[in-house]
Formats: sequence, C-alpha cells, structure tokens
Amino acid sequence: MDNYYLIDFNKNIIVENFKQENYVSGTGWLTHKILNKEDILSPEIIDFLSTLDIPLFINLFYGPPAGLTYIHIDNHAGGWAINYAWGSSNSIMKWYSIKKGSTPKRVLTTANTPYFFYTSDQVEIIEETEIKGLCLVRTDIPHSVHNYSTDSGRWCLSIRSLVKTNILEKLSPYIISR
Ligand SMILES: [Fe+2]
Repeated sequence: MDNYYLIDFNKNIIVENFKQENYVSGTGWLTHKILNKEDILSPEIIDFLSTLDIPLFINLFYGPPAGLTYIHIDNHAGGWAINYAWGSSNSIMKWYSIKKGSTPKRVLTTANTPYFFYTSDQVEIIEETEIKGLCLVRTDIPHSVHNYSTDSGRWCLSIRSLVKTNILEKLSPYIISR
C-alpha cells in the first residue's frame, strides 16, 4: 500500500448541521471519539460506508495553529484511515521508515487510545504531502501531521477500521490519484 491516495465518493461528507462548537479546541492536539456517527457524517456517506461492510469507528482530531503531532503508529487493526481535514490552509502529513533497533514508546491520546511514539532520531522521513479533501492514508508506519497555519486550527475527521481489511480493493473505484 502507498502512503496515501486521494479519493472521491462524490458525496457530502459532513452532516449539514455539524456542531463543531461542541468539540473542544485549544492549544494542544486533541482526539475526540465520535460515538454517534450521525453527529458528524452526512446521511449519504453513512449509507455508502455501510455498503463497504467494514466495522468502522470515527475520530475527530483537532490540531492547534502551528501544532504538530508526535511521530507515531496508530494502534488500530485496520492500519489505514480515511481522513477529511478542514480549517487549516497549510497542513502536511509525513511518513517515516524506522531505523534498525528502534523501539517505540506506548502512549495514550487525549481520548485514552494507545499509540506508539518514536523520537525523530529513531526514524527517517520517506514521504510528505499536503492533505486536501478526502484522503486514504497509511497509519501502520510512523507518521506525523503538521499544521503550519499560524492562525487556524486543523480539524480532521478520521474514519478507521477495527479489523484488517483490503481497503484498496474496496475503495479502488473511488481513488482519483496518489
Ligand atoms: Fe496517526
């Protein structure tokens, strides 16, 4: 699998009356677990996702202006995320290879979900890209997200899987480029 693919479902992603003000923003990088998908996803995307037949869960990330995440691997079985980011005019995702013999540290997000953290001297950058619109990204190798905007926070809806799936096969009709 490549590190990222731009995708297009040709549907509204976010529900029309999404209450962004209900989710905390602030000075740190935050993870919100979205328990009711209807709170954020449009009815048409909920219908569409159900046809994929994958047990999905949803996170909403907030990245403050000029903020960046740790270099990390997410601890969910799928190993990928369908991300949809807004709010920041300049955000970059980076992927890394692991230097031989490097052992990550296990840490928790603000939503108490575990992930594995690498220091910058344990990895080497292999790719980076600006993330715009809907994007399938790899989360099973070290990666980080940087919000370079100094005046706006970055929100990112992240649709993920609880199980291993061949997501490329399922999404191939919707991949527009990489
Ligand atoms: Fe991640």
